[in-house]
Amino acid sequence: MSEMPPIIPETPTILGIESSCDETAVALVRGDRTIIAERIASQEAEHAPYGGVVPEIAARAHAERLAPMLEAVMADADMALDDVDAIAATAGPGLIGGVMVGLVSAKALAMALGKPLIAVNHLEGHALSPRLADPDLAFPYMLLLVSGGHCQILLVEGVGKYRRLATTIDDALGEAFDKTAKILGLGYPGGPKVENLALTGDASAVPLPRPLKGSKEPHFSFAGLKSAVLRAYESGEHRDEDIAASFQQAAIDCILDRLGHSLRHVEPPPALVVAGGVAANKAVRSALEGFARTHQMTFTAPPMALCTDNAAMIAWAGCERFHSGQSDPLDFKARPRWPLDPNADKVRGAGVKA
Ligand code: KG4
Ligand code: ZN
Repeated sequence: MSEMPPIIPETPTILGIESSCDETAVALVRGDRTIIAERIASQEAEHAPYGGVVPEIAARAHAERLAPMLEAVMADADMALDDVDAIAATAGPGLIGGVMVGLVSAKALAMALGKPLIAVNHLEGHALSPRLADPDLAFPYMLLLVSGGHCQILLVEGVGKYRRLATTIDDALGEAFDKTAKILGLGYPGGPKVENLALTGDASAVPLPRPLKGSKEPHFSFAGLKSAVLRAYESGEHRDEDIAASFQQAAIDCILDRLGHSLRHVEPPPALVVAGGVAANKAVRSALEGFARTHQMTFTAPPMALCTDNAAMIAWAGCERFHSGQSDPLDFKARPRWPLDPNADKVRGAGVKA
């Protein structure tokens, strides 16, 4: 007797799990773009004393929180696990201990429930999340992904079709904000604190470099900018608010220059989308809006809750992949590094993330 082909529901309900950094998150998302329920727990308080995310602390916190959070999400949705069509979890890139907590839990659920597992690349979650918020956002679009762990320009051409146009050769942009905040003694996470302090500063007061501006290479670099911030601070010649404002302006100048570089290789200009924690920065957003206007691109930024790490974006990426009939084997390996574009050139630099 031949096996019946699996029936793929029109509007699948996907459970998403995110645990690749310092947010433990679970969400239930339906194929019609409804976020049925979601919960998220930040570990900010645990990591704050160390000025950054400590991998071991993160993995333990994910392990403690995930199961009760899953229970809570199912209760919020008033659904049973058996009502779910597939289980999606971040399988990398990220801090490997945390990724394994989420992925192994998803495998156990998939096995026990007899449902497909979808191992999601965290970057794919970010890349597709704008389509969860905006049903009219069609492929292709240019995504500026700027978070604590990533700084990339991606051309999103379709589900599974990502062209990496640029990445950082050292620090991510959010990391540069966090390090600047640390130098200025503002605490962690530093991005919002630097932005706030910059409001009262003079962005032209402190001469700071714009690393790789005008370079023939497409990539970003922020390590030199951070070192220059440290020197400016240690010189004792500048007000903290001027350092914050000058840093933020230098970072924005770099972003716009690098976007301009990437845009030269894409015809016609697609929509511009920003995602990642730094998308919360109002000065960055308004600079991107201006850039998009100048280049006749439409500009969208998903709501903040979808820009920063969350599980709805993982469930949604699962939805998009489930829709195209994809799932993954139960022995899928967690990957600390996992470039979204396998054909992307290797870039030089010590701290290249993906
Ligand atoms: O996407 P996200 O929540 O987590 C990942 O890193 O994946 O991003 C967090 C990063 C942190 O580096 C934080 O300092 C930065 O985003 N960030 C900001 C702002 N809000 C968050 N950076 C600049 N300005 C902000 N308002
Ligand atoms: Zn992220």
